[in-house]
Amino acid sequence: MEAIILAGGFGTRLRPFTFTRAKSLLPILNEPMISHLIRTLPKKVDTVILAVNYRREQIEEYFNKHDFGKTIIVNEEPEPLGTGGAVKYADQYITGPFFTLNADIICSLNLAEMLRFHEKKKATATISLWPIENVSEFGVVDIKKDGNITKFVEKPKAEDAPSDLINAGAYLLEPQVLNYIEPGKLVSMEKQIFPQIINNTGRFFGYKFQGHWIDVGRISSYISVHALLLEKQKKTFATGEQCTIQGTLKSSCAGNMVRIGKNTTVESSILFDQVTVGDNVSLDHCVIGEHCEIGDGSVLRNVAIGDNEIIEKHTKLDNAVVWNQPIPQGYPNKQIGNVIGE
Ligand code: GDD
Ligand code: MG
Repeated sequence: MEAIILAGGFGTRLRPFTFTRAKSLLPILNEPMISHLIRTLPKKVDTVILAVNYRREQIEEYFNKHDFGKTIIVNEEPEPLGTGGAVKYADQYITGPFFTLNADIICSLNLAEMLRFHEKKKATATISLWPIENVSEFGVVDIKKDGNITKFVEKPKAEDAPSDLINAGAYLLEPQVLNYIEPGKLVSMEKQIFPQIINNTGRFFGYKFQGHWIDVGRISSYISVHALLLEKQKKTFATGEQCTIQGTLKSSCAGNMVRIGKNTTVESSILFDQVTVGDNVSLDHCVIGEHCEIGDGSVLRNVAIGDNEIIEKHTKLDNAVVWNQPIPQGYPNKQIGNVIGE
């Protein structure tokens, strides 16, 4: 059985970190986001198709070095084809019902149970659902008691949202779904394909689950996913290898070879590999990219610092993004992906 992981797109809401890396390789507790997802795949899934474009070579390099006991196919679109176009572009590898997963979700969904539900309902498509208060950034469904979805609206205005149940970003699709997607075109699964499946087949189902769900789409949720996973592991902090920590870490994570000076506090923050933080520094809700240096006495709150930046001593920053290097060529200035037509 195959699983397609949608891991393309630029991750614009996670810049400056996505200026230098694929979103799916952003570390969560020192392991790429995409590895967390691959570990949730049922045994039955023996082939994983990574639908990628931006920074494909980094993803390929990672999977050349790490074995997950499954066949990994890196399928690069010639240009971003959207969430639907990317699935169609993988159709040569599909041999039966298949999973399609957004790469930026960390959640407790049990995919094997979702598969059983899909089979029992004889569904053409089953999507995972999660209740949320503010639905306007998500796909929202109208659903009957038996799980049959009668309406799917992507990113509706609050007043147009049919319910508080959102598309949680994991799908089980029958191969016939591929017939709805035009090849080689920019196609949004959510906006163009799901509504057609509802209308044409009436067999579009929603699968609700318990536990946790986080869309790691922006810096704030990137920080909160760390807090959640640390709490689940009953840890106050996590560190990689060869770190020298003299200060204090609270609800934070440091990568490999991180140095933290004396009398420094790091709270609700993530430090990538080889970050050096001086003495008497305070970091709160910060994400600090690889090889950064933070000078003594600095106080940073709600700050995202891209790779290889140097912060002078005694810097005070609040709500800032630090990036003093050129923006990679072709990097868009707004979100594309599944927001076609906006
Ligand atoms: N290969 C490929 N090509 N992947 C893409 C492309 C593309 O052109 N565009 C986006 N993706 C990938 C992203 O990397 C991400 O893993 C996934 O498809 C979804 O795209 P996002 O850009 O993250 O969409 P979103 O977060 O605004 O909304 C989606 O996720 C929500 C749940 O988090 C939608 O599926 C919503 O309906 C859903 O509620
Ligand atoms: Mg997303």
